[in-house]
Amino acid sequence: MSAQVEMPKKGEVILEAKDIVKNYGYLQALKGASMKIYAGEITALLGDNGAGKSTMANIMCGAIPKSSGHLYVRGKEIEVQSIKQAQEMGIQVVYQDLALAPDLSVPYNIFLGREIIKEGPFGKLFHVLDTKKMTEISKAHLAELGIGLKSMSVPVKSLSGGERQALAVAKAVAWCTSALIMDEPTAALGARQQALVYQTMRAAANKNLGVMVISHDIPKMLEVSDRICIMRQGNVIANLISKETDLQTVLSLMLTGQAA
Ligand SMILES: Nc1ncnc2c1ncn2[C@@H]1O[C@H](COP(=O)(O)OP(=O)(O)OP(=O)(O)O)[C@@H](O)[C@H]1O
Ligand SMILES: [Mg+2]
Repeated sequence: MSAQVEMPKKGEVILEAKDIVKNYGYLQALKGASMKIYAGEITALLGDNGAGKSTMANIMCGAIPKSSGHLYVRGKEIEVQSIKQAQEMGIQVVYQDLALAPDLSVPYNIFLGREIIKEGPFGKLFHVLDTKKMTEISKAHLAELGIGLKSMSVPVKSLSGGERQALAVAKAVAWCTSALIMDEPTAALGARQQALVYQTMRAAANKNLGVMVISHDIPKMLEVSDRICIMRQGNVIANLISKETDLQTVLSLMLTGQAA
């Protein structure tokens, strides 16, 4: 769907946050935090409650403004004032609360706000939604991500929680050409339901998107991510390769700032 834009190459730094400061009155939520997201990889952003993870994610996706610091997409500095502007740079965000329209079908949700239209019975005068085309494209997209749904035409409220969240991720992937940012995307799901969402995340990374995920499930993040960034008290204090570290090290860094 996003094939018009030249897709990033694996290992390329897709999104970089540098020296980000965020002040809320006297409270400094971010104190010069820096991190990178790489194409083709899943980067987990971990840290204790209040460490500044959501603030960082929200600045990266344009939801809130930074007080100072720099953001770069594929090496080019950007200024984003809104989620819409970030989307134009190919950055997509998925929140834990689902941004799907429950009464609409799967294709209508994927294409919400970007509907494909065709000429109606009276030609150019009346345009109608091209449901067939949107369904075909949606089907192919979900198949590419390994998401098998029983029906495309049912309202999404009738899908399971895991299917709905996987669909929310798939929808973001459909329009994403650089970074996919997820803040606790599986927090409301049971273990089995989470698997489909993690599978979709990996499929997104395999399309050479840069995936960033925030989660408190540290063992799972060690398993599913390629890199780990650890935040503590408004700073990123460690950048680790997931398969080269362990639970004890990550927890110790999160809680004390020192490796075990
Ligand atoms: N809108 C706001 N106004 C004032 N302070 C805020 C606001 N948003 C966040 N904060 C504060 O900024 C700090 C970082 O919050 P943030 O939500 O980024 O943490 P977090 O790492 O996502 O935590 P959690 O794991 O609990 O979600 C906290 O001290 C929080 O209270
Ligand atoms: Mg948070």
